[in-house]
Parts: sequence; structure tokens; C-alpha cells
Amino acid sequence: MNVPLLDLGAQYQSIRDEVLPALQAVVESQQFIMGPAVAQLEAAVAKVSHARHGVGCASGTDALLLPLKILGLRPGDEVITTPFTFFATAGAIVNAGGTPVFVDIDPATFNIDPAAVEAALTPRTRAIVPVHLYGQLAAMERLMAVAGRRGVPVIEDACQAIGARRSIDGEWRMAGELGWVGAYSFFPSKNLGAWGDAGMIVTSDDQAAERLRKFRLHGGAKQYHHDEVGTNSRLDTLQAAILLAKLPHLAAWSAARRQHAEYYGRGLAGLPQVTPPTVDPSNEHIFHQYTLRVERRDELQAYLKAKGIGTAVYYPVPLHLQKCFSALGYRTGQLPVAERVAGEVLSLPVYPELTRAQLDYVVDAIRGFYR
Ligand SMILES: Cc1ncc(COP(=O)(O)O)c(C=O)c1O
Repeated sequence: MNVPLLDLGAQYQSIRDEVLPALQAVVESQQFIMGPAVAQLEAAVAKVSHARHGVGCASGTDALLLPLKILGLRPGDEVITTPFTFFATAGAIVNAGGTPVFVDIDPATFNIDPAAVEAALTPRTRAIVPVHLYGQLAAMERLMAVAGRRGVPVIEDACQAIGARRSIDGEWRMAGELGWVGAYSFFPSKNLGAWGDAGMIVTSDDQAAERLRKFRLHGGAKQYHHDEVGTNSRLDTLQAAILLAKLPHLAAWSAARRQHAEYYGRGLAGLPQVTPPTVDPSNEHIFHQYTLRVERRDELQAYLKAKGIGTAVYYPVPLHLQKCFSALGYRTGQLPVAERVAGEVLSLPVYPELTRAQLDYVVDAIRGFYR
């Protein structure tokens, strides 16, 4: 049997009759730049996020970069973030002129540790960027309390977490809702994926939304009139049309991922070498990734590959130990949880269209490896 890590073809077959006409409508209109689908998607995604505004942009990377840019960071300004994330989180901080300050993570959820954030605050801290890793919210109520005491803006990297939510004081709060801004990626492999690059910023700060809307259009609302130096980071109209057609399916797709996760959890229970993901009881996880901690990780991965099962390691090298950040002076051992976890994680296929037979095959293979 073959169980790829991701099967975008299966999803395409199930929605092609909805998406292709939406694409064709854009082609017929020939309105490729900032066509009506962009504003429609912005409104729809803002609603999902309980935010007042959505600002489409070219990628999840830009959805992080643009808010950081408008903070006007100066050399030496610090932005606290997690080392256990995709590179873009920290890359955006540096590209906006800031210095990333990496702090350790919670060993259960792999998300940034609010106590470590608090300990890392300095007078130069200009922002905090938590990541809702694998589709599970970080402890936003604690992070917002830490940030609020010092008036530091929080930029949520919700690139893996659209539609994920957390119960806070008895109310569901969405990924991207509570921070100053939230950043989404619509990279094709995401739970809501485009057919190319696309991203969006959500915020309920009216002024920030207005500025970001201009910033992605070279800093001007009126053509050839520029209030500041922005950039070209538009969300492509074809991608917006695809995403609008796919959005009504998002909740069901994420629910299917949750069911697969539960099934894996039951199937792998009792294996001492395997730790299934911990879902914080306050969270509704969307399982962008289903990530185990395992013993003999690389051997297991090779064994599964030989059996036709795709897996991935997100992420093998924590960011504080990346070559490009060596000048920041971090040493091995400094962020021990992130470093340990990076050597143990393995993500299994969890895409919505997986069959029971495929899930059983993966479970049996893992059990067989440790037998
Ligand atoms: C946590 C995280 N941040 C940022 C990004 C960047 O998004 P994009 O690839 O759309 O630029 C991604 C996804 O790739 C991500 O997973």
C-alpha cells in the first residue's frame, strides 16, 4: 500500500467541479490584479477569524513581514519568538530589520513557553511572535497578559492554524483573533491551500488594516500616489477565487484530520517508544500536522518509507542553531526542549481523504517496527 504524506490530487478530484468554474470566471473577466474575489476572500477569512479586517498578500511569509515592517524596527530592536517553527517566522523578523530572540517551548504542545517569553522581555522588545504550531493555538491568554503589561504587540504566526480555536474564559477564540495581527499562509499543503503562493493578515486594528492595505500596494491607496515605501505583495485574484471555492470545505477537512488524529492515537496507544501529540484541553486542534515524538526516529522514518509511507520531520534544526543566525551567538544546549524535540518528532500523513485502510496500515507499520 502507498500512503503519501500528502495527496493533493485526492482533494482536487473532490472539488474540481467547484473550483474550475471559479477560476474560469476570473479568466473570463481578465481582472487578474485585485479582482473582486480578493475582497470577498478577505471578508470571508476575517469572519472565520473573528477579526474586523483581512488583508490579502502574496504569502504567509509576507503576512508576517508586512506587519513587522510597519512597526518600523530599528537596529537592535528585539522580537521574541520560538526556535521550533518554519524558517519564515524568524526570517521575516530579520528582513524587517529586527533581531530574533529565541526562547524555549512547552514540551507537551511544542508551542512557545509564555514564562520564557516573560523572562526574555527587555526595554528593546518591540514584538512577540508566537506560532500556533501544527495547528494548535499557543497559550494566547498568557502571552497576551505578558505582552499587555508592557504594551508589546503580538503578531500571531497562524500560518498553520486557520480555523483552530481555543476556549478562553468560556469563549472560543480563533487563531489570529487575539493578537494585534494574525498571519495566515495558503501554501498549497496547508489546511486551506491555494494552487500557488498566497497569504493573508487579519486584524481588528482599523489603522493597521488601512496601512497594511496600502503597504502591499507600494504604500499608496491611490495609483501613483505613495504615502510611504511599501512593496508589491498582492494576493493573486486566481488564488483568491480558488480559496473562496475551497473555504466552505475547511471545517469538514479539519474535522476529518481531527478524526484521523484520534484514530492514530487509539492505534498507537500503549507503545512506550511513541508519544502521540498532546492537545491542550483548551484547544481545538486542526492537525495541519500530526506529529509524534518517537524513539529511533530516523530508523523509523526509513522503515516507513520502505513500506510506502510518507513522513516528514518538521523541523530537524531549531532556528537558534541555524547557520544564518550564528552571529546571534546561541549555543547548543541553550534551548534544550526545542533541541530535544527536534531530534524526536515525526509527522505522519493526516490529510482529510485518508482511508481507514491507510490509517490501519500506518499504525500496523509503526507497531511492527517496534515489535
Ligand atoms: C509556521 C509558518 N510560518 C510561516 C510560513 C510561511 O508561509 P508561506 O510559505 O506561505 O510563505 C509557514 C508556511 O510555509 C509556516 O508553516
